[in-house]
Amino acid sequence: MSVVRPQPATDPIHYDPSAALATGGISRADLDGLAVRLDAARAETLADVDRWRSGGTRPGEVLDPGFIDLPDRLLADYQTSRTTSELFAILQTARRIRDAVDRVIVLGIGGSYMGTRALFEACCHPFHNELPRGERGGRPRLSFEGFNMDNDSAQGLLDLVAPAGAPRSDDLLDRWAMLVVSKSGGTLETAIATRLFLQALSASVGGDTAQFAQRVVPITGKSGRLADLAQAIGCPDVFDIPDGVGGRFSVFTAVGLLPASIVGIDVVRLLEGAAAMNRRFREAPVAENPVLQYVGVGHLAEAKMGGTIRVLSAWSNRLESLGLWYDQLLSESLGKDEKGATPLTVVTTRDLHSRGQQHQDGRRDKLITNLIVGEPRRDRLALPKLGSYGHDQDKLDALVGTAWPDMLTAAIGGTNEAYAQARRPTADILLPRIDEHVVGQLLQMLMLATVVEGRLVGTNPYGQPGVEAYKKFMMARLRPS
Ligand code: PA5
Repeated sequence: MSVVRPQPATDPIHYDPSAALATGGISRADLDGLAVRLDAARAETLADVDRWRSGGTRPGEVLDPGFIDLPDRLLADYQTSRTTSELFAILQTARRIRDAVDRVIVLGIGGSYMGTRALFEACCHPFHNELPRGERGGRPRLSFEGFNMDNDSAQGLLDLVAPAGAPRSDDLLDRWAMLVVSKSGGTLETAIATRLFLQALSASVGGDTAQFAQRVVPITGKSGRLADLAQAIGCPDVFDIPDGVGGRFSVFTAVGLLPASIVGIDVVRLLEGAAAMNRRFREAPVAENPVLQYVGVGHLAEAKMGGTIRVLSAWSNRLESLGLWYDQLLSESLGKDEKGATPLTVVTTRDLHSRGQQHQDGRRDKLITNLIVGEPRRDRLALPKLGSYGHDQDKLDALVGTAWPDMLTAAIGGTNEAYAQARRPTADILLPRIDEHVVGQLLQMLMLATVVEGRLVGTNPYGQPGVEAYKKFMMARLRPS
Protein backbone atom coordinates (compact mmCIF):
# COMPACT_ATOMS: atom_id res chain seq x y z
CA MET A 1 0.00 0.00 0.00
CA SER A 2 1.34 3.45 -0.88
CA VAL A 3 2.27 5.69 2.03
CA VAL A 4 1.86 8.75 -0.20
CA ARG A 5 -1.50 10.38 0.43
CA PRO A 6 -3.22 11.93 -2.59
CA GLN A 7 -2.99 15.73 -2.54
CA PRO A 8 -6.43 17.23 -2.03
CA ALA A 9 -7.53 19.50 -4.87
CA THR A 10 -6.78 23.19 -4.66
CA ASP A 11 -8.31 24.39 -7.95
CA PRO A 12 -9.10 28.08 -8.02
CA ILE A 13 -12.59 29.47 -8.45
CA HIS A 14 -13.21 31.68 -11.49
CA TYR A 15 -15.30 34.73 -12.17
CA ASP A 16 -16.68 35.12 -15.69
CA PRO A 17 -18.71 38.26 -16.49
CA SER A 18 -18.70 37.78 -20.27
CA ALA A 19 -22.49 37.35 -20.54
CA ALA A 20 -23.07 40.65 -18.68
CA LEU A 21 -20.64 42.39 -21.03
CA ALA A 22 -22.33 40.81 -24.05
CA THR A 23 -25.59 42.61 -23.25
CA GLY A 24 -23.87 45.87 -24.29
CA GLY A 25 -25.14 47.59 -21.15
CA ILE A 26 -21.62 47.60 -19.81
CA SER A 27 -18.49 46.95 -21.85
CA ARG A 28 -14.99 45.64 -21.40
CA ALA A 29 -13.80 49.22 -21.97
CA ASP A 30 -16.00 50.41 -19.05
CA LEU A 31 -14.48 47.75 -16.85
CA ASP A 32 -10.94 48.54 -17.93
CA GLY A 33 -11.69 52.22 -17.40
CA LEU A 34 -12.47 51.45 -13.75
CA ALA A 35 -9.12 49.71 -13.19
CA VAL A 36 -7.34 52.64 -11.57
CA ARG A 37 -10.15 53.17 -9.07
CA LEU A 38 -10.39 49.45 -8.34
CA ASP A 39 -6.67 49.31 -7.74
CA ALA A 40 -6.92 52.27 -5.37
CA ALA A 41 -9.82 50.62 -3.50
CA ARG A 42 -7.72 47.45 -3.13
CA ALA A 43 -4.78 49.50 -1.82
CA GLU A 44 -7.03 51.28 0.68
CA THR A 45 -8.58 47.98 1.82
CA LEU A 46 -5.15 46.48 2.48
CA ALA A 47 -3.76 49.67 4.01
CA ASP A 48 -6.69 49.62 6.48
CA VAL A 49 -5.19 46.50 8.04
CA ASP A 50 -1.94 48.31 8.91
CA ARG A 51 -3.76 51.48 9.89
CA TRP A 52 -5.97 49.55 12.29
CA ARG A 53 -3.07 47.54 13.71
CA SER A 54 -0.97 50.63 14.33
CA GLY A 55 -3.87 52.31 16.14
CA GLY A 56 -4.59 54.75 13.30
CA THR A 57 -8.38 54.54 13.55
CA ARG A 58 -9.92 58.01 13.14
CA PRO A 59 -12.14 59.45 15.89
CA GLY A 60 -15.64 57.99 15.61
CA GLU A 61 -14.62 55.60 12.83
CA VAL A 62 -15.56 51.89 12.91
CA LEU A 63 -12.67 49.95 11.37
CA ASP A 64 -12.77 46.13 11.37
CA PRO A 65 -10.32 44.88 8.73
CA GLY A 66 -8.88 42.18 11.01
CA PHE A 67 -10.66 39.48 8.98
CA ILE A 68 -8.47 40.13 5.95
CA ASP A 69 -5.21 38.48 7.00
CA LEU A 70 -6.85 36.33 9.69
CA PRO A 71 -6.69 33.03 7.72
CA ASP A 72 -3.00 33.57 6.99
CA ARG A 73 -2.27 34.46 10.63
CA LEU A 74 -4.17 31.48 12.04
CA LEU A 75 -2.40 29.06 9.70
CA ALA A 76 1.06 30.54 10.30
CA ASP A 77 0.57 30.42 14.05
CA TYR A 78 -0.67 26.83 13.86
CA GLN A 79 2.37 25.82 11.82
CA THR A 80 4.92 27.55 14.02
CA SER A 81 3.54 27.38 17.57
CA ARG A 82 1.16 24.43 17.15
CA THR A 83 0.08 23.62 20.74
CA THR A 84 -0.23 27.23 21.88
CA SER A 85 -2.03 28.40 18.75
CA GLU A 86 -5.68 29.51 18.59
CA LEU A 87 -6.43 26.90 15.95
CA PHE A 88 -5.05 24.13 18.15
CA ALA A 89 -7.25 25.28 21.01
CA ILE A 90 -10.29 25.27 18.69
CA LEU A 91 -9.49 21.75 17.45
CA GLN A 92 -8.96 20.48 21.01
CA THR A 93 -12.27 21.85 22.24
CA ALA A 94 -14.01 20.53 19.14
CA ARG A 95 -12.71 17.06 19.90
CA ARG A 96 -13.75 17.27 23.55
CA ILE A 97 -17.29 18.34 22.65
CA ARG A 98 -17.56 15.85 19.78
CA ASP A 99 -16.69 12.97 22.10
CA ALA A 100 -18.94 14.14 24.92
CA VAL A 101 -22.31 14.86 23.28
CA ASP A 102 -24.56 14.00 20.36
CA ARG A 103 -26.11 17.43 19.75
CA VAL A 104 -24.65 20.91 19.77
CA ILE A 105 -26.91 23.94 19.85
CA VAL A 106 -25.46 27.15 18.45
CA LEU A 107 -27.09 30.26 19.88
CA GLY A 108 -26.42 33.42 17.89
CA ILE A 109 -27.89 35.91 15.44
CA GLY A 110 -26.70 37.67 12.27
CA GLY A 111 -22.95 37.37 11.87
CA SER A 112 -22.83 35.19 14.96
CA TYR A 113 -24.56 32.24 13.29
CA MET A 114 -25.09 32.75 9.55
CA GLY A 115 -21.52 31.82 8.58
CA THR A 116 -21.71 28.64 10.64
CA ARG A 117 -24.94 27.68 8.97
CA ALA A 118 -23.38 28.36 5.56
CA LEU A 119 -20.42 26.10 6.35
CA PHE A 120 -22.62 23.36 7.79
CA GLU A 121 -24.96 23.20 4.80
CA ALA A 122 -22.21 23.52 2.20
CA CYS A 123 -19.72 21.06 3.65
CA CYS A 124 -21.67 18.43 5.62
CA HIS A 125 -23.99 15.67 4.49
CA PRO A 126 -27.25 17.35 3.42
CA PHE A 127 -29.11 15.22 5.97
CA HIS A 128 -26.40 15.21 8.66
CA ASN A 129 -28.83 15.64 11.56
CA GLU A 130 -31.06 12.81 10.34
CA LEU A 131 -28.23 10.25 10.17
CA PRO A 132 -27.44 7.92 13.06
CA ARG A 133 -24.24 8.86 14.95
CA GLY A 134 -22.19 6.12 13.30
CA GLU A 135 -23.03 7.43 9.84
CA ARG A 136 -22.14 10.93 11.00
CA GLY A 137 -18.64 9.67 11.79
CA GLY A 138 -19.35 10.16 15.50
CA ARG A 139 -19.97 13.86 14.99
CA PRO A 140 -22.83 15.56 16.86
CA ARG A 141 -25.94 16.98 15.27
CA LEU A 142 -26.00 20.77 14.94
CA SER A 143 -29.03 22.93 15.74
CA PHE A 144 -29.49 26.69 15.74
CA GLU A 145 -31.45 28.99 18.05
CA GLY A 146 -31.12 32.47 19.50
CA PHE A 147 -31.67 34.16 16.13
CA ASN A 148 -35.27 35.13 16.79
CA MET A 149 -37.87 35.29 19.54
CA ASP A 150 -40.04 32.58 18.09
CA ASN A 151 -41.80 30.85 20.97
CA ASP A 152 -42.75 27.72 19.07
CA SER A 153 -39.42 27.09 17.45
CA ALA A 154 -37.63 27.45 20.81
CA GLN A 155 -40.18 25.05 22.31
CA GLY A 156 -39.60 22.70 19.40
CA LEU A 157 -35.89 22.51 20.10
CA LEU A 158 -36.54 22.05 23.81
CA ASP A 159 -38.76 19.10 22.85
CA LEU A 160 -35.67 17.45 21.38
CA VAL A 161 -33.34 17.96 24.33
CA ALA A 162 -35.85 17.92 27.20
CA PRO A 163 -39.16 16.36 26.09
CA ALA A 164 -42.11 17.54 28.18
CA GLY A 165 -39.67 19.56 30.27
CA ALA A 166 -37.84 16.48 31.59
CA PRO A 167 -34.16 15.92 30.93
CA ARG A 168 -33.17 12.98 28.78
CA SER A 169 -30.86 10.24 30.02
CA ASP A 170 -27.10 10.57 30.47
CA ASP A 171 -26.53 8.27 27.52
CA LEU A 172 -24.09 9.78 24.99
CA LEU A 173 -26.86 9.90 22.37
CA ASP A 174 -28.97 12.05 24.71
CA ARG A 175 -26.23 14.43 25.83
CA TRP A 176 -25.97 17.91 24.38
CA ALA A 177 -23.89 21.06 24.65
CA MET A 178 -24.35 24.68 23.67
CA LEU A 179 -22.14 27.24 21.96
CA VAL A 180 -23.23 30.77 22.79
CA VAL A 181 -22.01 33.27 20.22
CA SER A 182 -22.28 37.01 20.64
CA LYS A 183 -19.55 39.53 20.07
CA SER A 184 -21.23 42.25 22.11
CA GLY A 185 -22.49 39.70 24.61
CA GLY A 186 -25.73 41.64 25.02
CA THR A 187 -27.91 40.88 21.99
CA LEU A 188 -31.40 40.23 23.35
CA GLU A 189 -32.46 37.42 21.01
CA THR A 190 -29.36 35.38 21.87
CA ALA A 191 -29.36 36.34 25.55
CA ILE A 192 -32.94 35.17 26.22
CA ALA A 193 -32.30 31.89 24.41
CA THR A 194 -29.13 31.47 26.46
CA ARG A 195 -31.08 31.67 29.72
CA LEU A 196 -33.66 29.24 28.45
CA PHE A 197 -31.19 26.62 27.29
CA LEU A 198 -28.88 27.06 30.30
CA GLN A 199 -31.85 26.14 32.47
CA ALA A 200 -32.55 23.02 30.42
CA LEU A 201 -28.87 22.06 30.33
CA SER A 202 -28.46 22.45 34.06
CA ALA A 203 -31.44 20.13 34.57
CA SER A 204 -30.05 17.65 32.08
CA VAL A 205 -26.80 17.26 34.07
CA GLY A 206 -28.74 16.99 37.32
CA GLY A 207 -27.32 20.27 38.59
CA ASP A 208 -23.70 19.01 38.38
CA THR A 209 -21.90 22.36 38.07
CA ALA A 210 -18.63 20.96 36.70
CA GLN A 211 -20.39 19.04 33.92
CA PHE A 212 -22.63 22.01 33.25
CA ALA A 213 -19.62 24.31 32.77
CA GLN A 214 -18.01 21.80 30.42
CA ARG A 215 -21.07 21.79 28.18
CA VAL A 216 -21.23 25.55 27.62
CA VAL A 217 -18.74 27.18 25.27
CA PRO A 218 -19.11 30.95 24.97
CA ILE A 219 -17.60 32.74 21.98
CA THR A 220 -17.60 36.45 22.64
CA GLY A 221 -15.69 39.73 22.90
CA LYS A 222 -13.08 40.25 25.61
CA SER A 223 -15.60 41.84 27.95
CA GLY A 224 -19.36 42.14 28.24
CA ARG A 225 -22.35 40.36 29.75
CA LEU A 226 -21.68 37.01 28.11
CA ALA A 227 -18.01 37.11 29.14
CA ASP A 228 -19.16 37.82 32.72
CA LEU A 229 -21.69 34.98 32.59
CA ALA A 230 -19.02 32.59 31.26
CA GLN A 231 -16.84 33.47 34.21
CA ALA A 232 -19.67 32.96 36.69
CA ILE A 233 -20.45 29.52 35.21
CA GLY A 234 -16.74 28.64 35.19
CA CYS A 235 -16.65 27.53 31.55
CA PRO A 236 -13.25 25.91 30.94
CA ASP A 237 -13.17 26.96 27.28
CA VAL A 238 -14.12 30.48 26.25
CA PHE A 239 -13.21 31.78 22.80
CA ASP A 240 -12.57 35.33 21.83
CA ILE A 241 -13.95 37.18 18.81
CA PRO A 242 -10.94 39.38 18.29
CA ASP A 243 -11.08 43.15 18.16
CA GLY A 244 -10.99 44.35 14.58
CA VAL A 245 -13.19 41.49 13.32
CA GLY A 246 -16.85 42.45 12.96
CA GLY A 247 -19.71 39.95 13.39
CA ARG A 248 -20.46 39.37 9.71
CA PHE A 249 -16.72 39.02 8.98
CA SER A 250 -16.13 36.51 11.80
CA VAL A 251 -16.69 33.20 10.03
CA PHE A 252 -12.96 32.35 10.22
CA THR A 253 -12.74 32.99 13.97
CA ALA A 254 -13.93 30.44 16.56
CA VAL A 255 -17.46 31.63 15.63
CA GLY A 256 -17.39 29.50 12.46
CA LEU A 257 -14.36 27.28 13.00
CA LEU A 258 -15.38 25.69 16.31
CA PRO A 259 -18.84 24.42 15.29
CA ALA A 260 -17.47 23.53 11.85
CA SER A 261 -14.74 21.43 13.38
CA ILE A 262 -17.20 19.77 15.77
CA VAL A 263 -19.29 18.51 12.84
CA GLY A 264 -16.22 17.27 10.98
CA ILE A 265 -15.45 20.07 8.54
CA ASP A 266 -11.74 20.33 7.71
CA VAL A 267 -11.11 23.85 9.00
CA VAL A 268 -7.45 23.88 7.97
CA ARG A 269 -8.48 23.40 4.33
CA LEU A 270 -11.11 26.07 4.75
CA LEU A 271 -8.45 28.52 5.93
CA GLU A 272 -6.07 27.43 3.19
CA GLY A 273 -8.76 28.23 0.62
CA ALA A 274 -9.31 31.66 2.17
CA ALA A 275 -5.55 32.32 2.23
CA ALA A 276 -5.32 31.32 -1.45
CA MET A 277 -7.99 33.91 -2.27
CA ASN A 278 -6.08 36.50 -0.25
CA ARG A 279 -2.97 35.85 -2.36
CA ARG A 280 -4.89 36.34 -5.60
CA PHE A 281 -6.54 39.46 -4.27
CA ARG A 282 -3.21 41.00 -3.27
CA GLU A 283 -1.16 39.92 -6.27
CA ALA A 284 -3.28 39.52 -9.40
CA PRO A 285 -3.57 42.49 -11.76
CA VAL A 286 -6.99 44.10 -11.85
CA ALA A 287 -8.04 42.43 -15.12
CA GLU A 288 -7.35 38.94 -13.70
CA ASN A 289 -8.41 39.57 -10.14
CA PRO A 290 -11.67 37.76 -9.29
CA VAL A 291 -12.45 40.09 -6.38
CA LEU A 292 -11.84 43.30 -8.34
CA GLN A 293 -13.61 42.12 -11.48
CA TYR A 294 -16.62 41.06 -9.43
CA VAL A 295 -16.73 44.46 -7.72
CA GLY A 296 -16.28 46.30 -11.01
CA VAL A 297 -19.12 44.49 -12.76
CA GLY A 298 -21.50 44.91 -9.82
CA HIS A 299 -20.70 48.60 -9.59
CA LEU A 300 -21.06 49.23 -13.32
CA ALA A 301 -24.28 47.24 -13.56
CA GLU A 302 -25.71 49.47 -10.85
CA ALA A 303 -24.36 52.72 -12.28
CA LYS A 304 -25.02 52.10 -15.97
CA MET A 305 -27.87 49.56 -16.12
CA GLY A 306 -29.91 50.38 -13.02
CA GLY A 307 -28.95 46.99 -11.56
CA THR A 308 -29.72 47.82 -7.95
CA ILE A 309 -30.77 44.25 -7.16
CA ARG A 310 -28.00 41.67 -7.03
CA VAL A 311 -29.39 38.19 -7.45
CA LEU A 312 -27.04 35.43 -6.31
CA SER A 313 -28.32 32.39 -8.10
CA ALA A 314 -27.01 29.28 -6.34
CA TRP A 315 -27.12 26.22 -8.60
CA SER A 316 -26.95 23.90 -5.61
CA ASN A 317 -29.21 23.47 -2.61
CA ARG A 318 -26.07 23.33 -0.48
CA LEU A 319 -25.24 26.95 -1.21
CA GLU A 320 -28.50 28.53 -0.06
CA SER A 321 -27.31 29.41 3.43
CA LEU A 322 -24.07 30.72 2.00
CA GLY A 323 -26.20 33.04 -0.12
CA LEU A 324 -28.16 34.17 2.94
CA TRP A 325 -24.87 34.83 4.76
CA TYR A 326 -23.85 36.99 1.78
CA ASP A 327 -27.21 38.80 1.78
CA GLN A 328 -26.48 39.88 5.33
CA LEU A 329 -22.87 40.77 4.55
CA LEU A 330 -23.77 43.03 1.65
CA SER A 331 -26.87 44.60 3.25
CA GLU A 332 -25.29 45.48 6.58
CA SER A 333 -22.01 46.62 5.04
CA LEU A 334 -23.15 48.77 2.13
CA GLY A 335 -26.82 49.55 2.83
CA LYS A 336 -26.02 52.95 4.30
CA ASP A 337 -26.62 56.63 3.55
CA GLU A 338 -29.52 55.72 1.24
CA LYS A 339 -27.13 53.74 -0.98
CA GLY A 340 -26.21 50.11 -1.56
CA ALA A 341 -27.51 47.38 -3.84
CA THR A 342 -30.14 44.96 -2.52
CA PRO A 343 -28.92 41.36 -2.43
CA LEU A 344 -31.25 38.45 -3.10
CA THR A 345 -30.34 34.77 -2.90
CA VAL A 346 -32.18 32.28 -5.05
CA VAL A 347 -31.70 28.55 -5.45
CA THR A 348 -32.01 27.42 -9.01
CA THR A 349 -33.72 25.61 -10.63
CA ARG A 350 -36.09 25.69 -7.63
CA ASP A 351 -36.74 29.43 -7.78
CA LEU A 352 -37.12 29.56 -11.54
CA HIS A 353 -40.59 28.30 -10.64
CA SER A 354 -41.18 31.15 -8.21
CA ARG A 355 -39.10 34.12 -9.38
CA GLY A 356 -38.08 33.16 -12.90
CA GLN A 357 -40.94 35.08 -14.50
CA GLN A 358 -39.88 38.33 -12.88
CA HIS A 359 -36.19 37.85 -13.59
CA GLN A 360 -36.94 37.18 -17.24
CA ASP A 361 -39.63 39.80 -17.91
CA GLY A 362 -39.85 42.11 -14.91
CA ARG A 363 -38.20 45.45 -14.12
CA ARG A 364 -34.68 45.83 -15.49
CA ASP A 365 -33.04 46.36 -12.12
CA LYS A 366 -31.14 43.09 -11.63
CA LEU A 367 -27.68 41.65 -12.10
CA ILE A 368 -27.78 37.87 -11.80
CA THR A 369 -24.61 36.14 -10.61
CA ASN A 370 -24.71 32.38 -10.97
CA LEU A 371 -22.85 30.21 -8.48
CA ILE A 372 -22.09 27.19 -10.66
CA VAL A 373 -20.59 23.97 -9.31
CA GLY A 374 -18.30 21.98 -11.64
CA GLU A 375 -18.60 18.48 -10.26
CA PRO A 376 -20.81 16.83 -7.65
CA ARG A 377 -19.23 15.20 -4.60
CA ARG A 378 -21.24 12.01 -4.87
CA ASP A 379 -21.59 9.44 -7.66
CA ARG A 380 -23.59 10.73 -10.59
CA LEU A 381 -27.24 9.65 -10.59
CA ALA A 382 -28.63 8.58 -13.95
CA LEU A 383 -32.29 8.50 -14.97
CA PRO A 384 -33.50 4.89 -14.66
CA LYS A 385 -35.89 3.06 -16.96
CA LEU A 386 -39.47 2.84 -15.87
CA GLY A 387 -40.16 -0.54 -14.24
CA SER A 388 -42.61 -3.11 -15.45
CA TYR A 389 -45.35 -0.91 -13.97
CA GLY A 390 -45.38 1.47 -16.93
CA HIS A 391 -44.43 2.17 -20.57
CA ASP A 392 -43.09 5.69 -20.97
CA GLN A 393 -46.30 7.32 -19.74
CA ASP A 394 -44.08 10.10 -18.30
CA LYS A 395 -42.38 10.52 -21.73
CA LEU A 396 -38.90 10.36 -20.23
CA ASP A 397 -37.54 7.30 -22.07
CA ALA A 398 -35.49 9.53 -24.35
CA LEU A 399 -33.55 10.69 -21.29
CA VAL A 400 -32.82 7.25 -19.80
CA GLY A 401 -29.18 7.17 -18.69
CA THR A 402 -28.81 10.96 -18.64
CA ALA A 403 -26.97 12.02 -15.51
CA TRP A 404 -28.32 14.56 -13.01
CA PRO A 405 -25.31 16.91 -13.45
CA ASP A 406 -25.86 16.86 -17.22
CA MET A 407 -29.50 17.84 -16.77
CA LEU A 408 -28.42 20.67 -14.48
CA THR A 409 -25.86 21.82 -17.05
CA ALA A 410 -28.64 21.97 -19.63
CA ALA A 411 -30.75 24.00 -17.21
CA ILE A 412 -27.90 26.46 -16.58
CA GLY A 413 -27.22 26.81 -20.30
CA GLY A 414 -30.90 27.18 -21.12
CA THR A 415 -31.51 29.76 -18.40
CA ASN A 416 -28.49 31.84 -19.36
CA GLU A 417 -29.53 31.68 -23.01
CA ALA A 418 -33.01 32.90 -22.16
CA TYR A 419 -31.60 35.78 -20.10
CA ALA A 420 -29.11 36.67 -22.85
CA GLN A 421 -31.89 36.77 -25.42
CA ALA A 422 -33.75 39.29 -23.25
CA ARG A 423 -30.48 41.23 -22.61
CA ARG A 424 -30.62 40.47 -18.91
CA PRO A 425 -27.08 40.76 -17.45
CA THR A 426 -25.66 37.58 -15.93
CA ALA A 427 -22.20 36.61 -14.68
CA ASP A 428 -20.84 33.30 -13.38
CA ILE A 429 -18.77 32.35 -10.36
CA LEU A 430 -17.44 28.92 -11.28
CA LEU A 431 -16.71 26.60 -8.36
CA PRO A 432 -14.76 23.46 -9.29
CA ARG A 433 -16.72 21.57 -6.62
CA ILE A 434 -18.14 22.25 -3.16
CA ASP A 435 -15.48 21.38 -0.62
CA GLU A 436 -13.69 23.18 2.18
CA HIS A 437 -10.98 24.69 0.00
CA VAL A 438 -13.50 26.08 -2.48
CA VAL A 439 -15.85 27.36 0.23
CA GLY A 440 -12.92 29.04 1.97
CA GLN A 441 -12.02 30.83 -1.28
CA LEU A 442 -15.60 31.88 -1.94
CA LEU A 443 -16.33 33.28 1.53
CA GLN A 444 -13.09 35.26 1.53
CA MET A 445 -13.73 36.52 -2.01
CA LEU A 446 -17.17 37.83 -1.05
CA MET A 447 -15.95 39.48 2.16
CA LEU A 448 -13.08 41.17 0.34
CA ALA A 449 -15.38 42.27 -2.49
CA THR A 450 -17.82 43.84 -0.05
CA VAL A 451 -15.12 45.88 1.63
CA VAL A 452 -13.48 46.92 -1.67
CA GLU A 453 -16.82 48.08 -3.03
CA GLY A 454 -17.34 50.16 0.10
CA ARG A 455 -13.99 51.83 -0.44
CA LEU A 456 -14.79 52.32 -4.14
CA VAL A 457 -18.06 54.15 -3.51
CA GLY A 458 -17.07 55.92 -0.28
CA THR A 459 -19.26 53.89 2.10
CA ASN A 460 -17.64 52.63 5.31
CA PRO A 461 -18.33 48.87 5.05
CA TYR A 462 -17.74 48.29 8.76
CA GLY A 463 -20.29 48.78 11.54
CA GLN A 464 -24.09 48.76 11.26
CA PRO A 465 -25.34 51.88 13.05
CA GLY A 466 -28.84 51.57 11.54
CA VAL A 467 -29.57 48.32 13.40
CA GLU A 468 -29.46 50.16 16.74
CA ALA A 469 -32.77 51.95 16.06
CA TYR A 470 -35.01 48.87 16.42
CA LYS A 471 -33.12 47.73 19.51
CA LYS A 472 -33.64 51.09 21.20
CA PHE A 473 -37.40 51.18 20.52
CA MET A 474 -37.82 47.49 21.41
CA MET A 475 -36.08 47.93 24.76
CA ALA A 476 -38.14 51.05 25.48
CA ARG A 477 -41.27 48.93 25.12
CA LEU A 478 -39.89 46.12 27.27
CA ARG A 479 -38.52 48.35 30.01
CA PRO A 480 -40.51 51.62 29.93
CA SER A 481 -38.84 54.12 32.29
O1 PA5 B 1 -22.41 41.88 11.46
C1 PA5 B 1 -22.72 42.14 12.60
O2 PA5 B 1 -21.94 42.69 13.37
C2 PA5 B 1 -24.09 41.77 13.12
O3 PA5 B 1 -24.83 41.05 12.19
C3 PA5 B 1 -23.93 40.94 14.40
O4 PA5 B 1 -23.24 39.76 14.10
C4 PA5 B 1 -25.29 40.62 15.02
O5 PA5 B 1 -26.00 41.79 15.25
C5 PA5 B 1 -25.09 39.89 16.35
O6 PA5 B 1 -24.35 40.66 17.24
P1 PA5 B 1 -23.65 40.02 18.48
O7 PA5 B 1 -22.63 39.05 17.99
O8 PA5 B 1 -23.01 41.17 19.20
O9 PA5 B 1 -24.68 39.34 19.30
